[in-house]
Parts: sequence; structure tokens; C-alpha cells
Amino acid sequence: MSLHSIELTVNGRRMHAEVEPRRLLADLLREDLNLRGTHLGCEHGICGACTVLVDGQPTRSCLVFGVQADDAEVETVEGLAGADGALNPLQDAFGAHHALQCGFCTPGFLMLATALLRENPDPTDDEIREAMASNICRCTGYQSILEAVRAAADGAAGAAAP
Ligand code: FES
Ligand code: FES
Repeated sequence: MSLHSIELTVNGRRMHAEVEPRRLLADLLREDLNLRGTHLGCEHGICGACTVLVDGQPTRSCLVFGVQADDAEVETVEGLAGADGALNPLQDAFGAHHALQCGFCTPGFLMLATALLRENPDPTDDEIREAMASNICRCTGYQSILEAVRAAADGAAGAAAP
């Protein structure tokens, strides 16, 4: 099968890849670019574990072909921590509020919450629930995820206060 040459920016770094037309973005990230923080659960668009941001929008990377990300800006969970490896406030809040157990769903929830808080820095609990409802967690019962996103939002608001 013929390969397509694509250029994309992943976590701020310009990257080049040669991909088959049928190569999923999830496989491109995990296998070709060695970014295995993006997890694959159902592989058919249900669980949200594979959520990354494409041009800022939460995207199920198991439903998108790599060639569709040509020229796009992709953000994965590896891009959340600082250059020194320090977790960002949202990641810290997930830890502090026990918003993960096995952690399989966590990259997807973190990317979903990242997009939510960029668009709506002070969401109501119902807005957090609605945003997080697209992803599945089989461990936490969701309440701790809600509390973590709430805490990250409150922390960001506190840091911005005069
Ligand atoms: S692995 Fe993509 S939605 Fe489940
Ligand atoms: S922490 Fe296990 S699936 Fe969410």
C-alpha cells in the first residue's frame, strides 16, 4: 500500500511521518511516534480513552486517520507536564482527589478536561459532568474525576485572583 508523507505538530514539536492511508491517528501516535500515553480501549469510538486534542478539539484518535492530521496541531497527555517533568495542576488534582485507579482512562479524561478548562475556566459542576460524560471510567465512579476538575478550575481561579 502506498505511503503518504505528512507533517504535523505534536506537543509543540514539528514531526514528519510516512503513513498508510488506513493508519489510525492513535496508532501513528503510539507506534510511529512512540507516544504511548494515549490509550486504546474499545477502538471504535465509545470509551474515549484515546482522546487527544487536534487543533484544540477533543478527538477520539481511534476514529481519525493519521493522514487527516496532516498539518494539524496535536496535543497528547505527554505534553501536559512541564519540561522538567513536573505534573501540571490538573494532573496534580487528579492525584490529590483520587481521580484515577488503574489509570487506563486517565489520559483521555485529562485531555478532555484540558479542553474544557481552556474554553470554560470556571465551569459549573453540571458543565464538568456534561463534558466528562463522553468518556468511560470503569474504576472511579466519576465523582472523584469531577472533584479533580473542579479543584483544578478553582486553583487556576485562585492563582489568577489579585
Ligand atoms: S479507544 Fe477510542 S474511543 Fe475507545
Ligand atoms: S481509573 Fe480505571 S478505567 Fe478509569
